[in-house]
Amino acid sequence: MPILTANRLVKVYGGEPGAQVRALDGVDFAIEPGEFVAIMGPSGSGKTTLLNILAGLDKPTGGQLVVDGQSVETLSGDALALFRRRKLGFVFQDFNLLDTLTLAENVALPLTLDKYPAREVHKRVEDVMARLGLQESQRRYPYEVSGGQQQRAAVARAIVHQPAIVLADEPTGNLDSASARTLLETFSSLHESHGTTLLMVTHDALAASYSDRVFFIQDGKVYSRLDRDGPRESFFQEILHTLSVLEVKCHDIRPTRP
Ligand SMILES: Nc1ncnc2c1ncn2[C@@H]1O[C@H](COP(=O)(O)OP(=O)(O)O)[C@@H](O)[C@H]1O
Ligand SMILES: [Mg+2]
Repeated sequence: MPILTANRLVKVYGGEPGAQVRALDGVDFAIEPGEFVAIMGPSGSGKTTLLNILAGLDKPTGGQLVVDGQSVETLSGDALALFRRRKLGFVFQDFNLLDTLTLAENVALPLTLDKYPAREVHKRVEDVMARLGLQESQRRYPYEVSGGQQQRAAVARAIVHQPAIVLADEPTGNLDSASARTLLETFSSLHESHGTTLLMVTHDALAASYSDRVFFIQDGKVYSRLDRDGPRESFFQEILHTLSVLEVKCHDIRPTRP
């Protein structure tokens, strides 16, 4: 049973018929528990729109989204807020840690918001921070540590409440290449040793090569899909090839000016 199913998702922006944008035009895909999936596509292809819908931040115009057996598009208000808090974890491009809290307090947030007992919070925060190599940095503030450590703390916060799925939006976008690789290796090991389900939007082929499967979207549709069945390096080459074909197609459909 998939942990997430997107079924014919459509998103149309704008009211006036002439000024409407069909940002998603029937997106279908499914993610099994424990999978690490990447979504790639050119600028304007609908990636952010899709992620916002998966995150429950925006409603689709049509179609269904089922996460952990729950139809998300039917939820609203407190039920939606609770669903997001319990079932989802988020990792953003710019880390989004609270500057006035230590790393450990940031990581604890999903649990304190859900009123977990203090002992349980302490134990889980210790476990997850040790797993991410952050034992030494628990009492530090975000501005006292590197971007790579901030993003690992953000990952710790995203998984501490054991969500059904972690959604990551360009998680390596603000990291130098060494920190980006460390973060991607962290994602791989979370998924391999702990069965964490991850969905990452990225425009970086190297980042995508750490996943099991890449969905390429273009013009609001899943245009192609690539499954990894060998070493990461050869998957990286296959992704580059698919992107080059996609770019040729984008170029072909660009209107020519007289
Ligand atoms: N709030 C909005 N109102 C109107 N059009 C939008 C809005 N957000 C995105 N779009 C349009 O929807 C399409 C997909 O955008 P987006 O999801 O941001 O793509 P991506 O993240 O892949 O760059 C683009 O044509 C964009 O201009
Ligand atoms: Mg975007």
